[in-house]
Amino acid sequence: MKTLMKQAEEFITLCYSEWGRTKDETALRLYEINKEINETAMYTHTVEELTYGAKLAWRNANKCIGRLFWETLTVFDERNTADPAQVAIAAKRHLEFAENEGKIRSTITIFPPRTPEGKDPVRFLNHQLIRYAGYKDGRGDPASIHMTHHALQQGWKAAGGDFDILPLLIEDAEEKVHLFELKNMTAIREIRLRHPEEAGFEKLGLQWYAVPVISDMELEIGGIIYPAAPFNGWYMGTEIGARNLADDFRYNKLREVAVCLGLDVSKATSLWKDRALVELNRAVIYSFQEEGVSLVDHHTAAEQFRIFCEREERKGREITGDWTWLIPPVSPAATHIFHQEYDAEEKSPCFRYRDSPGITSCPFSNKK
Ligand code: ARG
Repeated sequence: MKTLMKQAEEFITLCYSEWGRTKDETALRLYEINKEINETAMYTHTVEELTYGAKLAWRNANKCIGRLFWETLTVFDERNTADPAQVAIAAKRHLEFAENEGKIRSTITIFPPRTPEGKDPVRFLNHQLIRYAGYKDGRGDPASIHMTHHALQQGWKAAGGDFDILPLLIEDAEEKVHLFELKNMTAIREIRLRHPEEAGFEKLGLQWYAVPVISDMELEIGGIIYPAAPFNGWYMGTEIGARNLADDFRYNKLREVAVCLGLDVSKATSLWKDRALVELNRAVIYSFQEEGVSLVDHHTAAEQFRIFCEREERKGREITGDWTWLIPPVSPAATHIFHQEYDAEEKSPCFRYRDSPGITSCPFSNKK
């Protein structure tokens, strides 16, 4: 286990060298940090360091195919906000800024770091800021059953539908949970799914929300842990069309889609599942496009990832990646990623799952 000073040194050296700072500037900053660590067992990132650290965590995110855009991340510094009601307001601001009338902006909001005693001043129990509830009777998103149960225990009034937006559950330093009805605080953009040719498709009543904001991962920068640091990009279509709505342990809609398309679902050899998958994914892409909401298809995303890797190589940096996550779930072998190997070593800064992740989102799968 590296000491905090050692981790700080690695981060500051990396940062300052990428910024073209001199050896003296780096040494001076490390001197300051060393002093602060000796006095408080912690150190405080400058806004610049925090901002760049968050971008580096994205650049290092092995599971992410969208890393070409790592430098465009907007960082909101909320390190002084730990009061749950204020945290909820900051979350709302994050969502409104990120949504940007459909032109989704990659955004992260960073709340106070873990203390030297290992206490988290505040954290989200939600897997994402926006997520649909799930009920034991089969309604909604099965991945949220546990979280929904928890919200109900906190006094949440569930509507019992298929697409009920869960409230925010924010845990304070004393591990007391505070509930906020996010959908009463801000308009949440959702997209009803339609198919470019199949008029009957709309009757399936499928929809998804516009902005995926992961809120149950911690951000580590130079040894400092930020347990509440929700971040978002925009969707890749297959996340919705080939996983959220298609997995048999999620919305499990392939059969309904196939029947709607008039496919022969009586035998596997008709490839009805594959055909339903493709049409469902076309509907996702088409519907987001029609509404002017950013979303990338998996072929374009793979090409963007290729450019990212080429750029990194030119900078003399090694690319790390998790192949099992990088390949898209539809037609993986039609992208170059499938035919390549990636080193999955974890670099720092990085995003990682919290040790005690509060409410787990999806007990059935390690792929989110
Ligand atoms: N796969 C997750 C979901 O379907 C979202 C993960 C983050 N995705 C992203 N495009 N930034 O909700």
